[in-house]
Amino acid sequence: MSRLAVIGGTGLSKLVNLENISKRVIKTPYGEPSSPVTLGQLNGVDIVFMARHGYGHTIPPHRINYRANMWALKEVGITDVVAVAAVGSINRSMPPASLVLPDQLIDYTWGRASTYFEDDLENVTHIDFTIPYTTKLRDKIKRSMYQADISILDRAVYGCMQGPRLETAAEIRKLERDGCDLVGMTGMPEAALARELGLNYACCALVVNWAAGLEGDEISMQDIEGFAKKGIAKVEQLLQVLVYEMDVKTSE
Ligand code: HPA
Repeated sequence: MSRLAVIGGTGLSKLVNLENISKRVIKTPYGEPSSPVTLGQLNGVDIVFMARHGYGHTIPPHRINYRANMWALKEVGITDVVAVAAVGSINRSMPPASLVLPDQLIDYTWGRASTYFEDDLENVTHIDFTIPYTTKLRDKIKRSMYQADISILDRAVYGCMQGPRLETAAEIRKLERDGCDLVGMTGMPEAALARELGLNYACCALVVNWAAGLEGDEISMQDIEGFAKKGIAKVEQLLQVLVYEMDVKTSE
């Protein structure tokens, strides 16, 4: 039986339709998670919610304790993680307010604690990461989007930058040459840690701005907030349907 967690990013620090809520503080060998996990029911189905930046949106991308967050989700019995992430778009066919389900990523982050396989190893471990997002979970999300009548683009390369600043126009041109369609700051090491723990993981990316240099000389935080709000409504709709899909076994 699969059990879903939703990690909420910028604009999604709680799920409005979650019922019978309780919160649990989880201790991990890696320190404190961003927030207690929220246990609750969506349409009668048990799910777990975690606010990636903390409930008050106070933890910047490079300071998030990704290892503690993913460990805490595993600890409460999660099998599948839908990671909601606000992103900038580099691809003209993915305008602000689009929902995109990336199928690949490139990691440009540095200095983040990015693996559980570090100390006290019996063997050096290299996880396979050829396909970084779980295909079967992505398929469930696609089916849910279709049922909820929400359009989603399902092929994209997510480039994960260090942040917390936004990029220069030249950095975005470089990312474009690398083949990135989207740019964000929180997708890694989260996805790799999920794989190390054997969790199914997919990213539901919400485009909140054109990446630096694509439109005008500046990125407005006001515009970002506006598009985040619009997009989150679609994500909430998607999750209402997705919880029913979760009964279908995901593991390969
Ligand atoms: N760059 C990096 N991360 C982001 C962006 C961006 O333009 N928008 C939202 N998260």
